[in-house]
Amino acid sequence: MDAMITLLPGDGIGPEVTASGKAVLKAIELSFGHKFKFEEKYIGGAAIDQFNDPLPSDTQKSCLDSNAVILGAVGGPKWDDPNAKIRPEQGLLSLRKLLGVFANIRPIKVYPSLKKSSPLKEEKLDDVDLIVIRELTGGIYFGEKKRSEKKASDLCEYHEFEVTRIIRKAADIAMQRQRKLCSVDKANVLETSRFWRDITSKIVSREYQDIEIEHILVDAAAMYLINNPSDFDVVVTENMFGDILTDEASMLSGSLGMLPSASLGDGSIGLYEPIHGSAPDITGTKSANPCGMIGSIAMLLRHSLNLQEEAEIIEGAMFDVIEGGARTKDIAEENDRIINTDEMTQLIIDKII
Ligand code: IPM
Ligand code: MN
Repeated sequence: MDAMITLLPGDGIGPEVTASGKAVLKAIELSFGHKFKFEEKYIGGAAIDQFNDPLPSDTQKSCLDSNAVILGAVGGPKWDDPNAKIRPEQGLLSLRKLLGVFANIRPIKVYPSLKKSSPLKEEKLDDVDLIVIRELTGGIYFGEKKRSEKKASDLCEYHEFEVTRIIRKAADIAMQRQRKLCSVDKANVLETSRFWRDITSKIVSREYQDIEIEHILVDAAAMYLINNPSDFDVVVTENMFGDILTDEASMLSGSLGMLPSASLGDGSIGLYEPIHGSAPDITGTKSANPCGMIGSIAMLLRHSLNLQEEAEIIEGAMFDVIEGGARTKDIAEENDRIINTDEMTQLIIDKII
């Protein structure tokens, strides 16, 4: 198959892990006879430095012409002035909006041999396998922002169509799993949450009678994720709650560096990014864990290119390499031999070709 893929390495460790993702795609291309065309473009702080714009029009055009977009990370201390008018994160937020990728899918799996890397007790992690579906293009992230000397505000808004489409997306995914859907909100306080809850109940009762729906308040959900993580299957929530809960949930897998994500809309074009950020503290040391990115590549093949077998081969290769004991710094125990980003990537590629 022919595909056009835009690579947006961005900032911090973004370029290091994006190189891993590209290398894995090249291995798949070679082994399966596909033809992938890559375009590399600027985003985030790197784009601000070059063009004074976190999402230059050339980047936008390339993304819109692609089958899929891969993002490393954006942001870093260099651009961290909270009063700055232009910020790297605006590039990513505008890109999500531009591509219409309203559903951010964040699967959380626990590799057996990494249970000891998690801060949780090992027995809590048995049978943990959940997916968080985070609404990605609405809510407080995109509402009107105001600031005066004595007051600041961020508006949180949701339209009916925005809630409807994310709930349908989550319910479709739940139908392929255990048919259990947990919707997280703050309906005891927020009007947007009461609205979200009403729409969710209505859609599930009308269109998904086989699904067991549960509504949980976000504060309780944060607690259950630590106390009973294996009770969850598919979790759906609004933008900011999803941002916070997925960083928390990443600790179940042992490291933020392990987790992939796919952001999807109504079309097939998707945005794929590891959920870790730019990690300025380890930038340039080649110690980043490439698994979050490589898992995102598997999701890209599955969701944007419909290459199921290739996706499974990557996931299988990653599983074998991790279970075989390969460790980057973030998942290493005291006496483990630590390998770098490129070595981990190569071990995974060796299992693919
Ligand atoms: C994420 C990140 C982003 C977000 C930032 C970088 C804007 O934390 O993808 O989870 O908050 O969505
Ligand atoms: Mn986040």
